[in-house]
Amino acid sequence: MTSTIRSLLQKGSSRLRDSKVRKFDRDARILLCLALEKDKVFILAYPEFEVSLKTERKYISFIKRRAAGEPIQYITGKQPFWTTEILVGKGCLIPRPETEVLVEEALVLAKGMKAPVIADLGCGSGAILKAISESRGDCRLVGIEKSAEALRWARRNLSMYPNVTLIRGDFFKAPETGKLDLILSNPPYLSVKEFDSLPLEIKGFEPKDALLAEDPMEPYRAIAKFAEKNLKKGGYLIVEMGSEQARRHRAFRTLSPSLELCRFRKDLGGRTRVSVLQRK
Ligand SMILES: C[S@@+](CC[C@H](N)C(=O)[O-])C[C@H]1O[C@@H](n2cnc3c(N)ncnc32)[C@H](O)[C@@H]1O
Repeated sequence: MTSTIRSLLQKGSSRLRDSKVRKFDRDARILLCLALEKDKVFILAYPEFEVSLKTERKYISFIKRRAAGEPIQYITGKQPFWTTEILVGKGCLIPRPETEVLVEEALVLAKGMKAPVIADLGCGSGAILKAISESRGDCRLVGIEKSAEALRWARRNLSMYPNVTLIRGDFFKAPETGKLDLILSNPPYLSVKEFDSLPLEIKGFEPKDALLAEDPMEPYRAIAKFAEKNLKKGGYLIVEMGSEQARRHRAFRTLSPSLELCRFRKDLGGRTRVSVLQRK
């Protein structure tokens, strides 16, 4: 018997619910849209539409992946971020909405600058670089990333942007980039305890090196060294942080004698999320 949209949604949704997927109805719908190559309106408008066996098999394979804990974004291959969409998959961190606070802060500070030169340390998928590039076509951007796999995603996302240079490198080694107006970074910042308590969906699928910092302040000290070398006088360093760093917020005052702490910014959940420092 041929399956319909209605029956497949019911089947997928109950399989996901049994596997403890939180938004089981939503995810079943998204995955059916993906398998059918149709939008949500079509799914809602034609519940009795008969689905081909080939499409049904594709849908069931998506449902199985999701039921095994794989993030929905790795299955659909994309994640909305800022005003754009980022291609994602195994090997790169899925950009988080909290990181938009960093983008917002960077765009505010770049407002008074003419053709600013901006670096993103640990650029991952390239989400921050793409968001900035879309809003400020006149900047020159440099992305530095240690992971070859993540860098491949950044290249996919940024191939259309001639103003962006991507470099495979380690910001702990403070490579020389030339003078920068802004340095941005969302480094790995979770403590071992925080990492261990992550759900399987994150811990089992997203790259550990993108998330975990054994010493929670170490990446920030390395970024400060990089800034001492490469940031113009009066330029800004904008970094994302987690709760461990927020707890140690005083450490941002003494990261480097040449950096002055300007302010912290909270995310929409009210958590201290971003720190802004200026090169003296
Ligand atoms: C939290 S993710 C941020 C990714 C992306 N910027 C975003 O906001 O979605 C941190 C990224 O930094 C990279 N990374 C970690 N340590 C690094 C290092 N020492 N040098 C360069 N990149 C590093 C990781 O591979 C990962 O892609």
